[in-house]
Amino acid sequence: MAKPVTVFTCTACGANHRKWSGRCDACGEWNSITEEAPLSQGPGRGLGAQRGRVIPLGALSASEPPPPRTPSGIDELDRVLGGGLVPGSAILVGGDPGIGKSTLLLQAAAAFARAGASAVYISGEEAGAQLRLRAQRLDLADAPVRLGTETALRDILTTLDAERPDVAVIDSIQTLWSDTVEAAPGSVGQVRAAAHELVTFAKRSGVAVILVGHVTKDGQIAGPRVVEHMVDTVLYFEGERGHQFRILRAVKNRFGPSGEIGVFEMTGGGLAEVANPSALFLSERGQPSPGSAVFAGIEGTRPVLTEIQALVAPTTLASPRRTVVGLDSGRVSTILAVLEARCAVPFAGLDVFLNVAGGMRVAEPAADLAIAAALLSAREDHALPAESVFFGEISLSGALRPVAQAENRLKEARKLGFSHAIVPAGQKADGSGDMRLDRVSDLTGFVGETFGAG
Ligand code: TYD
Ligand code: MG
Repeated sequence: MAKPVTVFTCTACGANHRKWSGRCDACGEWNSITEEAPLSQGPGRGLGAQRGRVIPLGALSASEPPPPRTPSGIDELDRVLGGGLVPGSAILVGGDPGIGKSTLLLQAAAAFARAGASAVYISGEEAGAQLRLRAQRLDLADAPVRLGTETALRDILTTLDAERPDVAVIDSIQTLWSDTVEAAPGSVGQVRAAAHELVTFAKRSGVAVILVGHVTKDGQIAGPRVVEHMVDTVLYFEGERGHQFRILRAVKNRFGPSGEIGVFEMTGGGLAEVANPSALFLSERGQPSPGSAVFAGIEGTRPVLTEIQALVAPTTLASPRRTVVGLDSGRVSTILAVLEARCAVPFAGLDVFLNVAGGMRVAEPAADLAIAAALLSAREDHALPAESVFFGEISLSGALRPVAQAENRLKEARKLGFSHAIVPAGQKADGSGDMRLDRVSDLTGFVGETFGAG
């Protein structure tokens, strides 16, 4: 039998290489390639000699009841999960260090336990005393959660197999260590092996397993991408350090809609649910000021209004600054280019700063019009009317394209006291009595109408 070949794997993107090098050709990351023990030789060669069993094949039409769900009672979490926890599912929760993952999951475990499910919380990061202190601070000490502190995967699996709880939280996947893999905890091989074992265990036993995953500096779950493919649900816990808002976002969900968000506020007593995020995100808005535009957005199934803030200032730099927080910077560059090329509004020689108030992240193309409005308002030093909201996608030609769920956006805006919306011309939506609609077909028209000649 041929000697197994050692492989070198990039810890950033998971690409395999035949030899070590300082930089990964696949993703361009430096110092990310590590040596890995070879995978054991599976079948693949000589299939004829060692045949597998015949697997049963079923019809597509067989009727399946919807999966049973255990709600936690924390509505913001249940919505993101698609209505509650599905037995035997594997969930990965990623987020920056210190954002509140452990707090969220301790609160979730306690909520499940109080709702009558059996819950086990295993931490490889904190000592038991630390966890109990936190539970006291969060007023959860009386919840029937069983606590363990361990990093050895084999012991964790044996314990979970004996206990068979309804839900098990593992904090975190990067601290686990399997004795079948010769690599340090946190390495690609270890993370992959631990995730695989735990996901297989979840499917086999019916225990819902929630894994905490650390995130690299560019915002992806550390370790191989393949872990995200293995699990049923991937949730990201996001927020800006300086803000108290936290957003739990489903980026993948085999048991529910993806893109759904839950909004929380970090308080002295842990994470509190925010039932009306629009009111919260707009709460800091004072008098109408130049550079501020309200975007009527949709996150998952829920309308959320956010304030887009822009600042435009003369620069002495040869290449002006474009600082964007909470929005896609590529999208912002495109909008700036459309304003320059189609509407003759130059931004050369001007620094541009853009962000979303409250630390929210907005990825919808429907935000284009609000971004353009904020930029123009800042550049012209002209405040937009306080009663207006904006939505619409901008094409490269400068035309405004209709977006989905306009009625929902308008309904939320009306609920928060807005009475005027600027929407794309082709948008199917009704402006009822207390909501006036202005339809614009392209950005040039919008510039002309709102800011005079531009
Ligand atoms: P933690 O859950 O430990 O974050 P992670 O597991 O994602 O690393 O959260 C730590 C932060 O949360 C810490 O900076 C303190 C803050 N925090 C509160 O503000 N209030 C609380 O009640 C708790 C428990 C933590
Ligand atoms: Mg933690």
